[in-house]
Amino acid sequence: MSQAEILVVYHSRHGATAELARHISRGVESVEGAVATLRSLPNVSAENERPVQQVPESGAPWATLDELRRCDGLLIGSPTRFGNMAAPVKHFLDSTSALWADGSLIGKPAGVFTGSSSLHGGQESTLLSMMVPLIHHGMVIVGIPFSESALSSTRSGGTPYGASHFTPYGKPTALSDEEKSLAQAHGARVAEVALALKARRGSRERTAR
Ligand SMILES: Cc1cc2nc3c(=O)[nH]c(=O)nc-3n(C[C@H](O)[C@H](O)[C@H](O)COP(=O)(O)O)c2cc1C
Repeated sequence: MSQAEILVVYHSRHGATAELARHISRGVESVEGAVATLRSLPNVSAENERPVQQVPESGAPWATLDELRRCDGLLIGSPTRFGNMAAPVKHFLDSTSALWADGSLIGKPAGVFTGSSSLHGGQESTLLSMMVPLIHHGMVIVGIPFSESALSSTRSGGTPYGASHFTPYGKPTALSDEEKSLAQAHGARVAEVALALKARRGSRERTAR
């Protein structure tokens, strides 16, 4: 059976998006044959766009373009900032021109996740705008279907466009049960699609030989 490597990459200032990413990774690894690689993205300086920190003080190592190139599927997360993704995530995506040029991500599945401090503060607009560059890359966007019952019962985060969390300012970053369940379902779904697409690519390549 083939194996699929899923890159789970996020930026997080206060830890909530990091917590969401950990649950998504758990969902990825609940699928037989799927392995999650958890990576983070550094702050960037407004002056020169270079990462402010050279290595993370704690948590997941920084993601590299090589890891993105090699992955079989991607889940990428950002806090909501003014209804859009945070600058470090945009900065990372803006550095992927070489991967766009050689088509490394074409046909690979991708999901997006976010969080916000107000319930109607722009989670959906953030998720939809994060999909746009991934569509340019030719990735296959994977959301969460309503067969996941937590989508209908959640009173906090969790959307059909992707996993999300709602953490009011000053409150602990713990996710609700529905947010956890939807994060894990999202991770598992990207992993399942990655395995299916990779197997299909493999059989097409074998037929062509
Ligand atoms: C510059 C800035 C802009 C923000 N914009 C929004 C917003 O538009 N809507 C919202 O609900 N929360 C907004 N927030 C709150 C963050 O989305 C929230 O604190 C974040 O999800 C926490 O994630 P983290 O713990 O991973 O850093 C903003 C925070 C910052 C610093």
